[in-house]
Amino acid sequence: MSVLLEISDIKVHFPVGKTGFFGRPAGYVRAVDGVSFTIEAGETLGLVGESGSGKTTLGRAILRAIEPTSGTIRFHKDGQDIDVTSLNNKQLRAMWRDMQMIFQDPYSSLNPRMTVRDVIGEPLLANKVAKGEELKQRVKQIATQCGLDVEHLSRYPHAFSGGQRQRIAIARALILHPEFIVCDEAVSALDVSIQAQILNLLKELQIDLSLTFLFIAHDLAAVAYVCDRVEVMYLGTIVEIAPTEGLYYTPRHPYTEALMSAIPEADPTKEMTPYLLTGERPSPANPPDGCRFNTRCRYATDLCRTDVPLLTPIASNHFVACHHAEILSLQGAMDHEEVALI
Ligand SMILES: Nc1ncnc2c1ncn2[C@@H]1O[C@H](COP(=O)(O)OP(=O)(O)O)[C@@H](O)[C@H]1O
Ligand SMILES: [Mg+2]
Repeated sequence: MSVLLEISDIKVHFPVGKTGFFGRPAGYVRAVDGVSFTIEAGETLGLVGESGSGKTTLGRAILRAIEPTSGTIRFHKDGQDIDVTSLNNKQLRAMWRDMQMIFQDPYSSLNPRMTVRDVIGEPLLANKVAKGEELKQRVKQIATQCGLDVEHLSRYPHAFSGGQRQRIAIARALILHPEFIVCDEAVSALDVSIQAQILNLLKELQIDLSLTFLFIAHDLAAVAYVCDRVEVMYLGTIVEIAPTEGLYYTPRHPYTEALMSAIPEADPTKEMTPYLLTGERPSPANPPDGCRFNTRCRYATDLCRTDVPLLTPIASNHFVACHHAEILSLQGAMDHEEVALI
């Protein structure tokens, strides 16, 4: 596999409060605070974490739909190495043909006064890629691929159900043949059975159209279903990245452990011992010193309250930012022994 996107030390700080006499804001919300990772071509990388951890801000910053405060984003497209962070507005618009977003609430992004054909085809017109009969044909083709009935393309978005509207939004995002898609809580608002259909559609489209996804969601089951690797975000930083199975079965960061233990067990005979997060989540405007998770971590020591742990490799493809990652590794080994004894 080759690297499609390289995200290096991205920060997004939002100014908050009244601007003072010298034009300085009262403070900053450090929504994303020094995040580095790569996205491989053709993979689905999951991004999970509690609400407010900075997932949406990071997803948008990668596309420069929000300007990063600092850091670089490199996009390796067809052998080129594009520094996304240094593009001017015109170049950025051209690049957005290759990078698209799908949101949680498609209704707000679909113009209610346009027919579905026009909604899906608009990016072709706006980018002067196709018009007239060619546009119609391309809309038909992508609509069919997204499971929409081409007989219904003259209708307006309000006539469609939530799942169908999400299919319309997906068709619109794909009509320019992008390489990379940020899906931000794309199925979170849908009924469970419809969610599964949309997740299956995304999986099919990924293979058929060689797409790469950043899949943002708080639903860990959906993430496990579609993602090859998953990264976990806490208060604007990445605390763990690993292949999906490794992260779910052998989490090595105490925050990931807490997230995973909160997933309901499918087997009701198996006793669940959720490790609930205690304490309030600190504000990203005033994060704790040292490890940001130390105020809620059951393993925290003095070291964690002073020193920032760096994201460090602990196994093949598995990175964790914790001073005590070995504690969870020992626990995991013990759990496996118990299973072996049974
Ligand atoms: N435009 C903004 N101005 C100020 N603060 C913001 C803005 N957008 C997001 N935030 C703050 O940044 C943090 C991260 O938000 P967000 O990226 O939406 O998190 P998530 O998607 O993980 O729920 C939150 O504390 C949020 O309140
Ligand atoms: Mg969000």
